[in-house]
Amino acid sequence: MSSVFQINHVAIVVEDIEAALKFWRDGLGLDVTHVEDVPDQDSVVAFLPTGQSEVELVKPTSEESGIARYLQRHGPGMHHICFEVGDIDQCLQRLKKMEIRLINDEPVIGTGGKKIAFIHPESTHGVLVELYQLTAEEPRIRMERARKLASRARARSQMAAAGMMAFIRSLREGGNGRDDN
Ligand code: CO
Repeated sequence: MSSVFQINHVAIVVEDIEAALKFWRDGLGLDVTHVEDVPDQDSVVAFLPTGQSEVELVKPTSEESGIARYLQRHGPGMHHICFEVGDIDQCLQRLKKMEIRLINDEPVIGTGGKKIAFIHPESTHGVLVELYQLTAEEPRIRMERARKLASRARARSQMAAAGMMAFIRSLREGGNGRDDN
């Protein structure tokens, strides 16, 4: 049986990326690695990593795409969950045998050669599910991302430490004449 590894991303359809970031970045404190135009999917996407997974805020850029129609019908909200799988072809075969309704019978090849396929919400108890087979590139991209996040966290804790030192210094200076021996 081919395995599902983990959630790759949760996609949330929004009307306005900047407005959505007020909660997802500023409120919740998630990092935004980048905001990218994805012409493949007629959308602009903001990527917010959460450990090995990501939240993707997706704003449609055309009226015609599936995601634009979803937004018109349902308003903003959860659009799909994407799971990483070891072998997407094998997964789709098994689902077909089980008469699960697929949106893509065959994997769609996206940017960078990645293979994805969607499963119809009718067969998943109401949630659009995306399957994603990791590309050979992915481990390198992840390392890169982890490195960037770690260096941001380091910079933040250095700033916090510098702030703390300045605070301690100011206490000492303020306390001059009282505590000095
Ligand atoms: Co997706």
